[in-house]
Amino acid sequence: MSLVYVNGVVTKPEDAMISVYDRGFLFGDAIYEVTRSYGKILFSLEAHIDRLYRSADAIQLNIGIPKDAFIKQVYDFYKKENNDDIYVRIQISRGNVKKEQISLFPENFDQANVVMYLHPLKPFNQALYTEGQRLVHAGNFRNPKKSLDPNIKSGNYLNNIIALLNIDKEKYSDSFLLNDEGFVTEGTTFNIFYVKDGVVVTSPDESDILLGITRNILLEESGKQGITIVKKNFTLEDLYSADEVFTTSSTKEVMPVSYVDDQKIASGMPGEITKKLSAIYKENIKKYLDWATINHPWK
Ligand code: PDD
Repeated sequence: MSLVYVNGVVTKPEDAMISVYDRGFLFGDAIYEVTRSYGKILFSLEAHIDRLYRSADAIQLNIGIPKDAFIKQVYDFYKKENNDDIYVRIQISRGNVKKEQISLFPENFDQANVVMYLHPLKPFNQALYTEGQRLVHAGNFRNPKKSLDPNIKSGNYLNNIIALLNIDKEKYSDSFLLNDEGFVTEGTTFNIFYVKDGVVVTSPDESDILLGITRNILLEESGKQGITIVKKNFTLEDLYSADEVFTTSSTKEVMPVSYVDDQKIASGMPGEITKKLSAIYKENIKKYLDWATINHPWK
């Protein structure tokens, strides 16, 4: 079953309604989060809501209720869904423009529109996990932090959409962006890592990336298992000559990469450290679910 929530009203997707004067629709003046449930627990919901509120602060968008109350609202909605393993998207726009005046001025709005989507999680092509993704670098650059900080998870994904427009879908499954200094930033909806001589590398926190929650979990957990992750800028050549490349996101978790552009990565098969980090991530999911099952106030 799929369900949609619009400002407190829960309907089937085909009955969900939002104004054509919504600033998210008109200008991309919105923020969002995506997580998923495992069984009946929304994974790392607190971290996603923290990031949502950080994104809101960064664009001076007033969500209107405290974080805890918002988490409860998400769970109250989610409890209407009977199925396990659900894709969850939370989208908040600044609201509708006032008096049907289509003006960009941000004081020209009513109150935030809160929309949530629950969809069955479509399983990703398993071959991407066993054989790896084929990624291509995009022709356009990532928005520089100074222009529109990629660490704001905004409802405007044109930068990332353009990165997907001209890729050869026969050859590549997704794309990633460089910045104008030639450093790799991130994928269209994922963070990127590579491994060289046993050391794992990811872009620095202050680079032009979204600080992914999956990335954060690996950064916190890997050291405990003897894997070092170093944060530093890297180039396409670093990826081409890497021993392993992989990506992270809440929906796809840890996913290996077998090709970058036309370059095969090492043997082209998922590497041992990628597999180990994938297992570490899965252990962390289990730990969270065990914790949430007992302690989560909203479950
Ligand atoms: N995307 N970078 C970008 C640009 C993203 O959109 C995402 C997440 C990530 C990874 O973040 P996290 O580990 O917190 O999921 C990195 C989600 C999945 C999406 O938009 O569907």
